[in-house]
Amino acid sequence: MRFGLLEVLALASVPWCKAQHAQASPSVSETLEATSSVYSMNVTECPGYSLSALTESEVGLTAQLTLAGPACNAFGKDIVNLSIEVVYQSLNTLHVKISDTLNQQFTIPESIVTRPSAPDESYKATSDLVFNYDPSPFAFWITRRLEPDAIPLFDTRTSSLPPTPIPPLNASDPSTAFDAFPLVFEDQYLQVASALPYDTNIYGLGEVIASSGFRRDTGVNGVGTVQTNWNRDIEDPIDQNMYGTHPIYVEHRFNETTNKSSSSGVLLLSAAGADILLQTPPNSNVSFIEYRMIGGILDFYFFSGPTPADVIAQYGAIIGYPMWQPIWGFGFHLCRWGYSNISEVTDVVSQMRAANIPLEVQWTDIDLYHAYRDFTTDPVSFPPEEVQLFVENLASNYQHYIPIVDAALAVTVNSTDVYNPYTRGVEEDVWIKNPDGSLYVGEVWPGYTVFPDWFSENIQSFWTEALKNWSALGVGFSGIWLDMNEASSFCNNSCGSGANYSALTPMSMVGRVITEYPECLLTFVLSYNATIWGPSGNMTINGTSTNSCTTNAMTTTVTKRGLGSGQEPGISINSPPYAIHNAIGALSTNTLATNATHYGGYAELDVHNMFGLMEEKTTNLALQEIFPDKRPFLISRSTFVSAGKWTGHWLGDNYSKWQYMYLSIQGMLQFQIYQIPMVGADTCGFLDNTDEELCNRWMQLSAFTPFYRNHNTYGAIPQEPYRWPSVANASRTAIAARYSLLPYWYTIFANASLTGLPPMKALFYEFPDEPELFAVDRQWMVGKHILVTPVLTPGATTVDGIFPGGGSVVWRDWYTHAVVNATIGGNTTLDAPLGHINVHIRDNSALLLHQQPAYTIHETREGPYALLVSLTGAGTVFGIAYLDDGISPPPTSNRTVTFLVVDGTLSIKSGGTYDVEQKLSTVTVLGAKQPSSVVVNGEEVHGWAYTASIEELVVSDLAISLEEDSSISWK
Ligand SMILES: *[C@@H]1O[C@H](CO)[C@@H](O)[C@H](O)[C@H]1NC(C)=O
Ligand SMILES: *[C@@H]1O[C@H](CO)[C@@H](O)[C@H](O)[C@H]1NC(C)=O
Ligand SMILES: *[C@@H]1O[C@H](CO)[C@@H](O)[C@H](O)[C@H]1NC(C)=O
Repeated sequence: MRFGLLEVLALASVPWCKAQHAQASPSVSETLEATSSVYSMNVTECPGYSLSALTESEVGLTAQLTLAGPACNAFGKDIVNLSIEVVYQSLNTLHVKISDTLNQQFTIPESIVTRPSAPDESYKATSDLVFNYDPSPFAFWITRRLEPDAIPLFDTRTSSLPPTPIPPLNASDPSTAFDAFPLVFEDQYLQVASALPYDTNIYGLGEVIASSGFRRDTGVNGVGTVQTNWNRDIEDPIDQNMYGTHPIYVEHRFNETTNKSSSSGVLLLSAAGADILLQTPPNSNVSFIEYRMIGGILDFYFFSGPTPADVIAQYGAIIGYPMWQPIWGFGFHLCRWGYSNISEVTDVVSQMRAANIPLEVQWTDIDLYHAYRDFTTDPVSFPPEEVQLFVENLASNYQHYIPIVDAALAVTVNSTDVYNPYTRGVEEDVWIKNPDGSLYVGEVWPGYTVFPDWFSENIQSFWTEALKNWSALGVGFSGIWLDMNEASSFCNNSCGSGANYSALTPMSMVGRVITEYPECLLTFVLSYNATIWGPSGNMTINGTSTNSCTTNAMTTTVTKRGLGSGQEPGISINSPPYAIHNAIGALSTNTLATNATHYGGYAELDVHNMFGLMEEKTTNLALQEIFPDKRPFLISRSTFVSAGKWTGHWLGDNYSKWQYMYLSIQGMLQFQIYQIPMVGADTCGFLDNTDEELCNRWMQLSAFTPFYRNHNTYGAIPQEPYRWPSVANASRTAIAARYSLLPYWYTIFANASLTGLPPMKALFYEFPDEPELFAVDRQWMVGKHILVTPVLTPGATTVDGIFPGGGSVVWRDWYTHAVVNATIGGNTTLDAPLGHINVHIRDNSALLLHQQPAYTIHETREGPYALLVSLTGAGTVFGIAYLDDGISPPPTSNRTVTFLVVDGTLSIKSGGTYDVEQKLSTVTVLGAKQPSSVVVNGEEVHGWAYTASIEELVVSDLAISLEEDSSISWK
């Protein structure tokens, strides 16, 4: 979390402190003031490059690029000699890398983001994609091999881009003028642009909460996108840079003549601070993307798709598929900031049990700590022996515990102060330094703090030991929550270096009172005392509705950040080098200074965006060492390319607003693209007070998203789901559905870890030729088969949703199994009373379910299985389920069961080595014709029932082993 930063931040702009780039000078990191006289700040005169020394290789080509005229030194010094390497990586992936020949620019070490080596065989003649180029001025474009004449997927030719010059999109921000689009490659500024079809569909390029929705704004209506890559701790802002950086996009093209679509994707593998612009200039029939980076190299990967899910999987094949999740991670998680002691937490766990709302994992926030120090417990409010007892009790009930770990660690404040993690870290030399070699000291919750240097030699053993000691102290965690890892600091630059460490005391929360409520709540509610939980969060007070929204078509106001709207303090294009649109201004604001120095000479400027990723990897490896027989579970805030190999993610500090519940959907869809599929929002909302109706809807919505946690801020009214009977009811219903579907969730996550396919999908991933779906982000699909249509507005009793498939797909209600009478190509209005979330099953699905959802995942898995089959109009189905023990690190013994229906016969085929003790007890077939007999493995059975109105055949009392092949026929 983040608190009151504006109060502690000096917003005055801080001069850029810039360390020399690591690889150029590994031992020195001197402060270098950028002097404006060196730079022209005008890319119009940049000469571009000429290609020479082309060498064809087995797998691609290499060549030299030479600056084609006098240096322009726009926002740095032009680099004269570049090397280009093109590798046809596979049938669907093409790698184009342009780097400085002397190799002095920062490149992401393989130890941080592992990339595949060059292929063993040549795909030059067979790859889906083709690299084309003009030698001088050098430009390249990427086409599909089978469509050489179509608009290229990526095209840097000036002739393809809009004509120049284009005036600033906003007069007050000249940085948005497009003078020209030459390739610029300077030590501190790189620029490359590609033409795109007019208003094409672009997804990704986050982390962001975009006012345009999941589909990014190409600027046909004037605003467009400026996506800035500079990780920062900020309460979920709209259209600004935030916690993570993921320079990958999926483009989905639709041809209106043929009514066919195809997707492709582009990764710019760069950790550099950057602006990525998506624009369509006025009167232009071309859109474009432009990358402006303040360091690094141009390292592109192109993915051919052709479906959106293919692109995502192809990206995963390059950067690594997501980690395997432990099965309990799919349970319901509960957390808040502001539990005052361990008995309060114990009471919450008991209340959950008393209300019979399944609780899988109880979390604690920084309340646990002594003086906000990592790896401690407060001796008074959270005595270690009581924490230990609490955790043991949870474990004996098959429940789990997760504590928070903040990125920065307290310094000891005087000579008698004892804080072993800090002193041990000094001995092991694991803290980030100032350029002069002294300790870099910032400020976070505990007061002055140091920051782990994930590059340092001893960091892994140090971090593992710290976690191990904490566990031994009694904090028996099953997983770890990583926060504040952008890295967040409450001041600018090295604010504590050389300071009197005892001058700062830990941040105090005393007296913090939250008075804000969700939209539409009537103001008289606020006359109630909001500091204690009471009627203030309820839907009615003394019989009067608290909701002032009279229609369910509530519109929420979004402040759309225009370009250069004046909301970006510190941005000045007039002071070189190029100032990216970091929404808080100078790069060192509220985080580590750009000249903070890492082991090996790496400058924070180059590695800033990877702090979270490196912490996640280090923590994941620590957990693997501490619990060698178990899969790690991590949830973290700041992420970068490939973080999904090590962690899951929550969407950060959202608000208890209807708008934020809606916005969480685009966030979760984005992180499927980023290969971090285990993602979820703070359910019921974090900042501000929630209310009964919002929490009711949100508890149901999040039950159909990957990571399911209710989390609340300090000083807000309580929002545990048992606080209101209606929310308790809604939660029980939704969690029961979720736990029934657990084998399905598990299967789609196995697919993600094995093949990179996204578990949660935008509707158009499954129906790519239906343009009305391209912007849909108020509904989503779980896997290929479940469609979720949540209520996102207060006061609603119905919800509108679209049912894709153009009438050729049969959609059935999850609860009643009735077929939806869907409108083709438009919205269908569904009943949605409070406590009901619409969930529909697509035809051609065979969903393996748990028959008896229980209190915990463990107990649920002890029960029998059920199979729910929804036939196509032709009476066929193919489905698959993946099973293993849900705990052991892969590779582990597993089993794959397939379900095939043809002509009224279900054939079950089982393969693998994992023992499945629980039997398949019920088979439900939707869309079946009335049978006269049912035969199971050759023998007629009588325990079946048929309901003609919904064409439902239910065969019960079975005891079919999922370890063997079986068949069930109905004739
Ligand atoms: C950039 O240079 C071009 C060509 O010399 C010139 O026409 C233009 O006015 C310059 N732009 C700025 C913003 O200085
Ligand atoms: C759409 O497809 C047609 C037929 O293949 C082709 O001629 C046309 O160029 C395509 N349009 C675009 C915008 O790619
Ligand atoms: C040193 O710091 C500790 C921890 O804040 C504090 O309890 C103690 O009183 C301080 N000692 C002195 C001599 O200031």
